Amino acid sequence: MRPVIMCIDDEQFVLTTIKKQLKFHLKDEYIIEISESGTEALEILDGFIKQSIDVPVVICDQIMPYLKGDDVLEKVHAVLPDTLTILLTGQASVDDLGNAVNKAKLYRYISKPWEEMDLCLTVKEAVRSYDQQKKIKKIHQELTEAHSQLVQTAKLACIGELAAGVAHELNQPLMVIRTGVQLMMRSYKHNTLKLDQLEHQFDTIEKNTKRMMNIINHLRTFSRQSELQPIEMNICDVIENTFLMIGEQLRLRNIEVIRTVTNSLPKIKGNPTQLEQVFLNLLANSRDAIEEKGKSIGGKIEITIGSEDNFVEILIKDSGVGIASHHLEKIYDPFYTTKEVGKGTGLGLSISFGIIKDHHGDIEVIQTDSSGTTFRVRLPV
Ligand SMILES: Nc1ncnc2c1ncn2[C@@H]1O[C@H](COP(=O)(O)OP(=O)(O)OP(=O)(O)O)[C@@H](O)[C@H]1O
Ligand SMILES: [Mg+2]
Repeated sequence: MRPVIMCIDDEQFVLTTIKKQLKFHLKDEYIIEISESGTEALEILDGFIKQSIDVPVVICDQIMPYLKGDDVLEKVHAVLPDTLTILLTGQASVDDLGNAVNKAKLYRYISKPWEEMDLCLTVKEAVRSYDQQKKIKKIHQELTEAHSQLVQTAKLACIGELAAGVAHELNQPLMVIRTGVQLMMRSYKHNTLKLDQLEHQFDTIEKNTKRMMNIINHLRTFSRQSELQPIEMNICDVIENTFLMIGEQLRLRNIEVIRTVTNSLPKIKGNPTQLEQVFLNLLANSRDAIEEKGKSIGGKIEITIGSEDNFVEILIKDSGVGIASHHLEKIYDPFYTTKEVGKGTGLGLSISFGIIKDHHGDIEVIQTDSSGTTFRVRLPV
């Protein structure tokens, strides 16, 4: 159905005149709906809302019995926040106008008797503005959705890469369990199984299965699209969780990790899964930079966590190849990567930057040369 322009006035003559003028100037693009009272108009508008029919503009007289114009428009604004409102008035007081402006987002007021062209041009302009607002809203929504999809895609790519590392993480406890069970079976066959050996093995099995469950559960939460509700967290836990997924990869590459917490840390508020994604990417970048220096050499990543007045600060210093100055300004650009085809998507830092910005923090390279690179992340308390 076509969008509706609603006119409210207690004088039938005024209504028919407005209707005729608007019909003439706006052609048949809009339905011109009229009503003699605010209460009735609100009921009609309610019907339009239920049928999802657009109402770009409501024009209303100020002086009417029962509900006054500014009160009607206030109620209209409550149910149709995007609709533009026009007050048509012979003698509105400054208070009435102020009220309409503040509470009903009044678009304009037109005094009676009105000029036909003035009224029609104002309505046309309002309709145009309404359409534009609607378009912007839609584009904004599409952008928000595209962004969260992008974050999700990068995360899934990350998980693909992690699968190999996680296989190692799981393999180790599995081997411990298997060996234990084999030992127990042998003792059982030789009739030498002792109670304390049994207890020890059960304990080992319990601990190792718990570790495996932790890893699997963690991967599960991480791969889910995370909710937007911010929660309180300790940044150290976030970083610890990151190592559940990348720790083994670093160990296999002979990369030593040194963690230092300089003072007691206040909690921060935010989305832990998203922040984990940031640290996962920073560590993956350090891993790649160290590997680029020489596959067999190994290397070092130093993580220093501390806090100052109003923020928590995390330094990640690696012994990798460093970032050339002409790359430095581009590293946060989406799809910017110096890695070989198929290795990097170039989304890691761009997404990390967005996540840190959403948390009102900042991310910066504070040192880089042939000895390595230091990234600094700051998050407000
Ligand atoms: N710690 C680092 N040491 C050296 N270079 C780095 C470091 N971190 C980032 N870079 C450079 O910045 C570029 C962009 O990093 P970004 O994380 O955005 O993408 P990527 O790692 O190439 O790909 P993706 O993260 O999507 O797998 C990298 O290709 C690399 O050249
Ligand atoms: Mg990366």
